Amino acid sequence: YTAEIDSDDFEKGTYPYYMLKEIDEQPAVMRKLLLKYQDENNNLTVDQAIVDAMLESDRVYIIAAGTSYNGGLVGKELIEKMTHIPTEVHVSSEFGYNTPILSEKPFFIFLSQSGETADSRQVLVKTNALGHPSLTVTNVAGSTLSRESNFTLLLNAGPEIAVASTKAYTAQIAVLAILSEVIGIEKGLINKGTMLHDIGIAANAIQAIIDDKEKIESLASDYLSTSRNAFYIGRGMDYHVALEAALKLKEISYIQTEGFAAGELKHGTIALIEEDTPVIALVTEKRVAGHTRGNLQETKARGAHAMVISMEGLDRPEDQIVIPHVNPLLSALVSVIPTQLLAYYCSLHRGNDVDKPRNLAKSVTVE
Ligand code: G6P
Repeated sequence: YTAEIDSDDFEKGTYPYYMLKEIDEQPAVMRKLLLKYQDENNNLTVDQAIVDAMLESDRVYIIAAGTSYNGGLVGKELIEKMTHIPTEVHVSSEFGYNTPILSEKPFFIFLSQSGETADSRQVLVKTNALGHPSLTVTNVAGSTLSRESNFTLLLNAGPEIAVASTKAYTAQIAVLAILSEVIGIEKGLINKGTMLHDIGIAANAIQAIIDDKEKIESLASDYLSTSRNAFYIGRGMDYHVALEAALKLKEISYIQTEGFAAGELKHGTIALIEEDTPVIALVTEKRVAGHTRGNLQETKARGAHAMVISMEGLDRPEDQIVIPHVNPLLSALVSVIPTQLLAYYCSLHRGNDVDKPRNLAKSVTVE
């Protein structure tokens, strides 16, 4: 008799699936990033050549697919708010064939966990031919996108094995927050950086949610696991997270889920709300909190099973999940965590292979 050791089980340790392990790793990934992008004076820093190239540009174009695209939507907010450089986010497969009119001095940021996505590479080949500068933000050093672009920033998240991306998404947001702050300081728009501190606080907040994961597991079985369809809604940053939350849930649970701009729901899609349709609202931004709650109420009046993920300070006693207060610019880092866990537990309860959902591949190298 020879004992068979499955290398998969070995690496997963006591975790049933890589996805749960990778969700759990996120606070550590945040802290590692802060160490990696810190100089000897404990200031956040990135390669000066990247800063200079971005300072010279008049517009940033973020190119990405899937979860990385959703990370790009958050990235746009961070770049525009901290650097005042106008930023567009594009799905790579669209940009490749329907290239928009570019600004005079574009700067391209390719967001890709794997650094191998063919749709994104196709755009990079094009922008290289046009001579435009580019930065790849990736988890894989030496990947194709990294080698073929001018600059690289690494996510340092460790290998991501589960097809559904979790820690790469939060790492992308953290790296773009660091980059934006460094540029904001260089431009004199920010006096004293707070991201080092604020990302640390976000890491603690992520940990607090993970420590309470049993609660999210029971919410998943009470509200979602047996549903045919579901909605995530939000405004602003919460809308961007709603898109990622919906993608996560649909790709591994196979529950048809839409992420929707809370205010847009009433313009058609609300027709899909039936008795007990789960609608989950993200409420982390003060400016729009009341409006989003109003939109949730509209779905409730039509029978929806409403649920709220809110941030401390904006929470109400009836909210199912309250995340700790963090810098609103970084709310996505934290509000996405319960949605990752909800997706994980729904998939688990439905008996799916969480790490290897049907029809999907981790890295898509065909166009
Ligand atoms: C595939 C994966 C997605 C991923 C997307 C982009 O479709 O299934 O999870 O978000 O590719 O991958 P990238 O490696 O470019 O971030």
